Amino acid sequence: MKKVFSGVQPSGTLTIANYLGAMRQFVALQHEAECYFCVVDLHALTVPQDPAALRRQTLDVAALYVAVGLDPKKVTLFVQSHVPAHSELAWLLQCQSYFGELRRMTQFKEKSQGQESVSTGLFTYPTLMAADILLYQTDEVPVGEDQKQHVELTRDIAQRFNHRYSETFRVPEPVIPEVGARIMSLDDPTKKMSKSSTVAGSYISLLDEPNTARKKIMRAVTDSGSEVRHDPETKPAVSNLMEMYSILSNLSLEAVRARYEGQGYGPFKKDLAELVVTALEPIQKRYSELRTSGELEAILADGAARARTAAAPTLRIVQERLGLQPAR
Ligand code: AQP
Repeated sequence: MKKVFSGVQPSGTLTIANYLGAMRQFVALQHEAECYFCVVDLHALTVPQDPAALRRQTLDVAALYVAVGLDPKKVTLFVQSHVPAHSELAWLLQCQSYFGELRRMTQFKEKSQGQESVSTGLFTYPTLMAADILLYQTDEVPVGEDQKQHVELTRDIAQRFNHRYSETFRVPEPVIPEVGARIMSLDDPTKKMSKSSTVAGSYISLLDEPNTARKKIMRAVTDSGSEVRHDPETKPAVSNLMEMYSILSNLSLEAVRARYEGQGYGPFKKDLAELVVTALEPIQKRYSELRTSGELEAILADGAARARTAAAPTLRIVQERLGLQPAR
């Protein structure tokens, strides 16, 4: 059975972009693969976090994983810091990666831009992500477009290690959806929607109240003209809303265009708002149950135990290959 790994940072409340770009794929893959899904709390530490908020958000993300449809009996669901092999392998892979290649990472450039000081962790973030993925001998990594470069770096590191020390890691492939891989901000379609944005109107949180979500969609910027047409070059804002509509309605982009021909943006946005509210409702209901029932702690303890067992053989073989442990 193929193996799948992916992670989500508890760096804010998850947005509809995290769902449409990544988590929706996790739900589909759980039926066909051995899946490891992780709340990557160590990644969140690469920028300052309030400890109490981080603790709460870690549980929120775990609850949302289940609430969007993951079955914790089927998939291994865990918190990254509860499996120390991630940090251990990350160090070993840092010593196999180059300053120059990490410096080229777009996310590092974007997140460090304009900052007075930047943590070393933000710089080495991709090697921790490589460790996350390679520990489980992963075949496929379902992610949004923004993480593609990091998965490509993971492939380079795996191939380099295999070449230097003999076959050790499976070389993973990114799995990126055709539509929804890069959902953009509602207030600025040139920026991607982000959960850590300080502008609440720029994203739809998976936990937004129905009326808040409706208002955000109705206030989302649109482009000049009034035609509902998918053309990211000339109509980036409407194209972004159409991608959300297409996924949530299961209609092709062409079918969405045809449905609103001659009607302008108003009716289209109104219907999109209802699609969003309808999609969020069952997620929020299940999320509330999980956050009050106490079942989450048991799910995460079980997941961490299973992940520790699954990760151990890869870490051991890497230690042997590098000369840290006797070769068996
Ligand atoms: N705008 C997006 N469109 C589609 N997919 C997206 N993802 C993130 N933003 C979009 C995908 O969601 C998964 C989890 O993301 P992450 O927690 O690893 O962090 P990120 O990629 O840095 O996403 P955010 O929401 O922008 O977080 P912050 O604000 O903390 O940096 C990934 O698969 C990602 O590709």
